[in-house]
Amino acid sequence: MFQRLFFLLIVFLFQASCIFEISSALKEGKTCILNKNCDAGLHCETCLANNNLRPRCSRIQPINPISKVKGLPFNKYSWLTTHNSFARLGEVSKTGSVILAPTNQQDSITSQLANGVRGFMLDMYDFENDVWLCHSFDGTCFNFTAFQPAVNVLREIQVFLENNKDEVVTVIIEDYVKSPKGLTRVFDTAGLRKFMFPVTRMPKNGGDWPKLDDMIRQNQRLLVFTSDRSKEATEGIAYQWKYMVENQYGNGGLKAGVCPNRAQSAPMSDKSKSLVLANHFPDAPDFVVACKQNSAPLLESIKACYQAAGQRWPNFIAVDFYKRSDGGGAPQAVDVANGNLICGCDNFTACKANGQCE
Ligand SMILES: *[C@@H]1O[C@H](CO)[C@@H](O)[C@H](O)[C@H]1NC(C)=O
Ligand SMILES: *[C@@H]1O[C@H](CO)[C@@H](O)[C@H](O)[C@H]1NC(C)=O
Repeated sequence: MFQRLFFLLIVFLFQASCIFEISSALKEGKTCILNKNCDAGLHCETCLANNNLRPRCSRIQPINPISKVKGLPFNKYSWLTTHNSFARLGEVSKTGSVILAPTNQQDSITSQLANGVRGFMLDMYDFENDVWLCHSFDGTCFNFTAFQPAVNVLREIQVFLENNKDEVVTVIIEDYVKSPKGLTRVFDTAGLRKFMFPVTRMPKNGGDWPKLDDMIRQNQRLLVFTSDRSKEATEGIAYQWKYMVENQYGNGGLKAGVCPNRAQSAPMSDKSKSLVLANHFPDAPDFVVACKQNSAPLLESIKACYQAAGQRWPNFIAVDFYKRSDGGGAPQAVDVANGNLICGCDNFTACKANGQCE
């Protein structure tokens, strides 16, 4: 049996290598061996969880919506968002400790930014007299759940905003920081203060956000939300659920056909909050199954959330292992949302600069 499998593998690799002699830049869906065989914006992978053994070039980047239309309100765009963006597979804690916490992503924040991720979910804790990114429990960070000081990752975002003057980034903080002005200090240290979109300009009672090109012109290109309500009064950092509805995270968010709100959020249908966030990842991050979850079920999920949110497509689509899919994955889901938000059609490729669908 094994010999036969081995033989088939050899035949397969031989055939595949013949293809590469013809083409080394393969399009989406083509059989590949290495990432570098695929076109830009694609990588080579299989999705065993979907019984898909053939390695093929699959999407890891959405189409950047600002490449098409910049003149719409911020709430008319959708952004690829990583859940626990900092919790990288194989990372060693900056304390030197082995990390025992689960991990949710494969690459660095800089690499995520390069692939078009524009929403980052970061868990921040008081730790070692500083603010750290930890994947912990009971609001306390330990050496074995501590990844790195938050300032490191925020600096990666700072460099990106500095070098890409048209890009807007959103940070969503699961906030366990209790030290007074702890968040303010870490954002200041990272050099991000000057980019922060002021809370005073955020719509408080529904309605549209400022236009994207206006945010770009004013250099207010970083949105920061916290889960700690008190920080809006004490530090001027937006309390997330005053501006955004969000569906249940974890296994509760994976149920087909429904999109219930998470406890802290108003009902999805509440249009006094202008932004919509769709979570689609399990309680326990699962590298193997992520490719399946990020594919057809994710598309179903954003459609269910569109209905639940009173026919509003999600502005943020949050997943684990965003690069993993059985084809188009989370980047495709973001394209579908942008196609609908910007042009009124599922196919964002066909969306024209005048906002019409071909
Ligand atoms: C935790 O890490 C710090 C270094 O960041 C070290 O000084 C300390 O001894 C460690 N604590 C334990 C219990 O290992
Ligand atoms: C999307 O539109 C583009 C451009 O019109 C077209 O080439 C492509 O086939 C369409 N894709 C789908 C899935 O309809």
